[in-house]
Amino acid sequence: MTQTLLLLPGDGIGPEVLAEARRVAEAVAPDLAFEEALVGGASIDAHDIPLTDDVLAQAKTSDAVLLGAVGGPKWEATDRDKRPEAGLLGLRKGLDVFANLRPAFCFPSLVAASSLKPELVAGLDIMIVRELTSGVYFGAPRGVEPGVKGYDTSIYTADEVERVARVAFEIARGRDGRVCSVEKSNVMETGLFWRQQVTKVHGVHGSGVELSHMYADACAMELVRQPKQFDVILAGNLFGDILSDEAAMLTGSIGMLPSASLGSAGTPGLFEPVHGSAPDIAGQGVANPCAAILSMEMALRWSLGRGDAANAVFEAVSKALEGGARTKDLGGSLSTREMGDLILSGL
Ligand code: NAD
Ligand code: IPM
Ligand code: MN
Repeated sequence: MTQTLLLLPGDGIGPEVLAEARRVAEAVAPDLAFEEALVGGASIDAHDIPLTDDVLAQAKTSDAVLLGAVGGPKWEATDRDKRPEAGLLGLRKGLDVFANLRPAFCFPSLVAASSLKPELVAGLDIMIVRELTSGVYFGAPRGVEPGVKGYDTSIYTADEVERVARVAFEIARGRDGRVCSVEKSNVMETGLFWRQQVTKVHGVHGSGVELSHMYADACAMELVRQPKQFDVILAGNLFGDILSDEAAMLTGSIGMLPSASLGSAGTPGLFEPVHGSAPDIAGQGVANPCAAILSMEMALRWSLGRGDAANAVFEAVSKALEGGARTKDLGGSLSTREMGDLILSGL
């Protein structure tokens, strides 16, 4: 049966980087059916809302969804539920992709591009498992009373912690077997509950996995002090968001970091770069397409059951980088298209 890959280019550099990911996908998986739809600001401009029911339905029936990025200054003034970011959150929630995998992998040829000393990042390979559909991002009540107060609710249920913890343990078993769970149990009740629940789930589903715990602030510090101490980092929605941007810089550039958001077995995953729409460079054709191409690689691997094609893409990116291919963020001068060309020629 034909597999469908739904492309949601979105805003800013989203369409620029996704065009390269599509070219690479067409080369390694020509039998895929490609569909394209609007999300984020692009959807607001066309339909007044950042995610239509039709597009969500289309996403649910595809085999994998590849998103570029959403957001930008043009839509900042709108109400929160009509902003581009709400479309992305709605997509994550609607697809119930609760486990967000963000691999911080430092390609050997990019060791010098990191802002840390080469010896700290050479061989770096961390997997951040971020809970993606709950926590303070979605908790109610929330609101702003102008001039009076602003508030959010941080909440995690037992099931929500259990299902993402199990994913982290499972992934760790295929790696170095170590999970570091991160929260602020010293000051937050959700943090305390998170730690208790992860410990409990580890007792039942954690065989072969070594579990440790760390406060999120300490983890932020350890990530730049001794990043290679980590194998899998398990975190809630907000801390996972922050720590993955921090981890991105260990790999040389945020333009390198892909992600996979997975739900329960048999449902389509959502794949997207960790970076945003980069309004400061949008339209210039200079964005690094590697994060988008590697997100597509993760789609091939995690949702489409095409490990061989995924390996070929990973090797091609690695080879291009080894050959010196660099966009501006990596200290080079290649355009987005030229970077895509070099990766394609290495396939
Ligand atoms: P950003 O990731 O868009 O940009 C941060 C910095 O990194 C900028 O200097 C940018 O030029 C650079 N950068 C990002 N991706 C790059 C790439 N592929 N190649 C080269 N340089 C790159 O984050 P921001 O500026 O905080 O946010 C901009 C907008 O994007 C906001 O509207 C935000 O909400 C949105 N955003 C969306 C997503 C998403 O769609 N998944 C993720 C993060 C931020
Ligand atoms: C990310 C982004 C999103 C998040 C925003 C754009 C909603 O920062 O994917 O990392 O905070 O999850
Ligand atoms: Mn983020």
